[in-house]
Amino acid sequence: MSAIAIITGATGGLGQEFVRSVQTENFDEIWAVARNEKRLKELRDTFGGKIRPVKCDLGSADDLAELFALIETERPDIRLLINNAGIGKMGRSDEFSDDDIIKEIDINCKAVCLLCKHSIPFMKPGARILNISSASSFQPVPYINLYAASKAFVRSYTRALNVELKSRGIICTAVCPGWIDTDMLEKEHNGKPVKFPGLVSPERVAAKALRDSAKGRDMSVCTLFVKYEHLLSKAWPHKWLMKIWMNGIKDYV
Ligand SMILES: NC(=O)c1ccc[n+]([C@@H]2O[C@H](COP(=O)([O-])OP(=O)(O)OC[C@H]3O[C@@H](n4cnc5c(N)ncnc54)[C@H](OP(=O)(O)O)[C@@H]3O)[C@@H](O)[C@H]2O)c1
Repeated sequence: MSAIAIITGATGGLGQEFVRSVQTENFDEIWAVARNEKRLKELRDTFGGKIRPVKCDLGSADDLAELFALIETERPDIRLLINNAGIGKMGRSDEFSDDDIIKEIDINCKAVCLLCKHSIPFMKPGARILNISSASSFQPVPYINLYAASKAFVRSYTRALNVELKSRGIICTAVCPGWIDTDMLEKEHNGKPVKFPGLVSPERVAAKALRDSAKGRDMSVCTLFVKYEHLLSKAWPHKWLMKIWMNGIKDYV
């Protein structure tokens, strides 16, 4: 039975960093899940034969069914699952298309829960799940309303799952980073550079997340800046925090 890690969004900024960080661990295979075949091939060329590219659109029910069928057929020993893939669109919620809304919920929430559900039967004590949430899960965030709500869902779901799976020795960690320097961020808006306070590298976030998961923590918060944001979200009325946020984005909306 192969010992494997499954990492979704493995071709993106943070996902690739997770692949890099765990490639020397004792896995027979790292299942790298994403849509772009060229980038999946490049990932294999960079990190070697342990990488198993799994082309899958996490927003497609058919592709998800194929992924679950692959797990059922191979019955691997899943030692690590990182539900990292995520999308986020900025803008007025009422201007989103139906498809925008459905896709964001399907990828950020539905795929995460389904992949946990289909992986847990193949996990033994010591296995770990990392679900990537965000600091935007700490309070409501206008203009990334849906994204922040989806990440609050992931955080809540993961922390509760951690309690449910404790007796089976499986650790679940909700990773809640602030801004990370990846392609997800729109670096310019209307010709002006966008400011991202507390921006960190994917390397730093991945390293902290894996450390926290190894320690059995149900949440991983990287950098003092984001820890401070987390504390404020518990101490201050969310109305105030939304006002501060609105002031920060007034040039962009
Ligand atoms: N960047 C930030 O500031 C930030 C902050 C907090 C949390 N996060 C979270 O961190 C995670 C990683 O984000 P990132 O910044 O590394 O993003 P990224 O660079 O845009 O990478 C996104 C990854 O997700 C994959 N993906 C997107 N749609 C997919 C789909 N339908 N099916 C399968 N894979 C899909 C992409 O690959 P393909 O295009 O090949 O499918 C890519 O590998 C996300 O959950 C994000 O919400 C990011």
